[in-house]
Amino acid sequence: MTGEARGDSLSYSARLPFEEARAGAVSRLPDLSGRGRDAAGKELLMCGIVGYTGQRQASRILVEGLKRLEYRGYDSAGIAVRKDETVKEGEAPLLVIKKKGKIAELRKAVPKDLPGNYGIGHTRWATHGGVTDVNAHPHLDTAGRVAIVHNGIIENYAPLKEMLENDGAVFASDTDSEVIAHLVAYHYEGDLESAVKAALRHLKGTYGIAAVHADEPGRIVGARNGSPLVIGVGDGEMLLASDVTALLAHTTSVVYLNDGEVVSMSPREFRISDRDDRAVDPKIDLVTWKLDAIEKEGFSSYMEKEICEQPESIARALSGRMDLEYGSAKLGGLELSKKELHAIERIRVIAAGTSWHAGLVGCQLMESVARLPAQAELASELRYRNPVVEPNSLYLAVSQSGETADTLYAMREIQRRGGSVLGVCNVVGSTIARESDGGIYVHSGPEIAVASTKAFTSQLAAFYLLTLSLARLHDMSHHEGDRFLKELKAVPEAVGRSLLLRDRIQAIAKRYAHHRDFLFLGRGLLYPIALEGALKLKEISYIHAEGYASGEIKHGPIALVSPETPSVFLVPNDHLREKTISNMREIKARGGPIIALAEEGDEDVAAIADEFIPVPAVETRFQPFVMVPPLQFFSYFCALERGCDVDQPRNLAKSVTVE
Ligand code: M6R
Repeated sequence: MTGEARGDSLSYSARLPFEEARAGAVSRLPDLSGRGRDAAGKELLMCGIVGYTGQRQASRILVEGLKRLEYRGYDSAGIAVRKDETVKEGEAPLLVIKKKGKIAELRKAVPKDLPGNYGIGHTRWATHGGVTDVNAHPHLDTAGRVAIVHNGIIENYAPLKEMLENDGAVFASDTDSEVIAHLVAYHYEGDLESAVKAALRHLKGTYGIAAVHADEPGRIVGARNGSPLVIGVGDGEMLLASDVTALLAHTTSVVYLNDGEVVSMSPREFRISDRDDRAVDPKIDLVTWKLDAIEKEGFSSYMEKEICEQPESIARALSGRMDLEYGSAKLGGLELSKKELHAIERIRVIAAGTSWHAGLVGCQLMESVARLPAQAELASELRYRNPVVEPNSLYLAVSQSGETADTLYAMREIQRRGGSVLGVCNVVGSTIARESDGGIYVHSGPEIAVASTKAFTSQLAAFYLLTLSLARLHDMSHHEGDRFLKELKAVPEAVGRSLLLRDRIQAIAKRYAHHRDFLFLGRGLLYPIALEGALKLKEISYIHAEGYASGEIKHGPIALVSPETPSVFLVPNDHLREKTISNMREIKARGGPIIALAEEGDEDVAAIADEFIPVPAVETRFQPFVMVPPLQFFSYFCALERGCDVDQPRNLAKSVTVE
């Protein structure tokens, strides 16, 4: 999925086979990469990296870049810059400033006039290992001449640390990452790039790394294995980041590093090579995301902005892909001929979290509309099963970020068994996008809030297009295709109307936000939407919520019903409506409060429910689109009511790049 960033003919680049970290012989230290995982090596990091080398004040650009990356992880942050060219005898040449807490803390600690025009920075998110100033990155070697930042996990760090300590290294932190600084120093003989490469040969685990050395002013060396890194090519300056959002203010020309590659950059040039030192030809891509897409633009949070953007983001996902002439869809990025598409006998979706919910909707649609057996699997489960990869199956790896480790590894497992996997991704150039065998970009634009909102509805749009395209190859007539397209075309406007429910939902949230437990209930296509509503409420307001198929409540969950446990019902407007209303009565009879979302004008539902949320009238199979925004708003306002940070909920990160 490299380069191409819009339209129908998404070009997916050839797949780069995953390379295991190469365990090569290194001059002096023995290779310990094969030793198992150490308990402390389980520190989980889903963090951000930024590097800058050029003519401008590095500290300012680094802190600003970290602010953009804060959504990836946010318990501590730091920068390392070269103080200036004239360092006094005995003085550490690299200045490291790091602080636990938000970027605002770091910003306060960095002097406004700090000299130095190259450096590296990091935001850290940890679940194991203390959140302290010392454990924040960058980390220095003992002499303070090498500074590194690292995303990922070094599994064999404990034996490496022991060896390095025996060799005289003095460790300052409890992190696995610090070994990298000492290893680079250990191998340094006047060339940072060679030292980094030598250090990498010891490492077992995943990494995105940036390193600087005080003796090589202006040089930054980066390396990637399983954790994204992208180079920003500027005018007389170069940047490095784990995410393009940190680069957008400075350049839109980027080069995505592949696993196993190392970049060495100075203000005017960069060189990419593999671990065997073979030069790699860089492919410069243009990022089409605009800077304002990553600003809040007057909204109080990214989540609010992203919820409200959905009419446009869905329209973008559909744009240029509706084939009005043939009542079908055009998805050039699939890179499959009509014949190949026709030969598909079953669909499997692999995904996590909200993307899995989109996959559940997609699979129901593909089965009921395109008449293809389809199943959505949790990537974290599939990966460790022993899956049968049947011929003529099409796998779809669905991921907003395109970096989710569970989904990526599940995809690789399927590919290793000869299966072909298409990506359904938002982030252009992400690992899943690049390693998949074709796919669909959902074009929702940058999604910054941790809770996925607009990417979900854009993923739905992609599934509706794919369903149409497959259905038209089988039983769906041209006329039916036209009708489907007409409904699909009307979705952005209908979603716009469902956003108008905002004030009503805010008032309901005020009344219900104090409850500890919720049930979310739906049937058919609205069952995955119930799961999504429950997930949103859990992740940003920390209220316990269970998503269930309405028909299942009598098999157990009904025992939870009481005046303290409200049920949110998603009422379809088809033959399942009556059954859902019966389920509502069952809850009502047991004293459970009911919040019901149903088509506007549904008086029966309004009469039973304690709170009625009238959603715009659309054809049944398009109801997921209009039910989702009210649920997103509900979780959003409950979270605000409870004083939660909606954009950066506790314990969560935007891209989950560890298992
Ligand atoms: O980037 P992905 O779509 O692969 O992410 C998958 C999940 O981690 C993600 O959807 C997560 O559940 C969100 N926080 C939900 O809002």
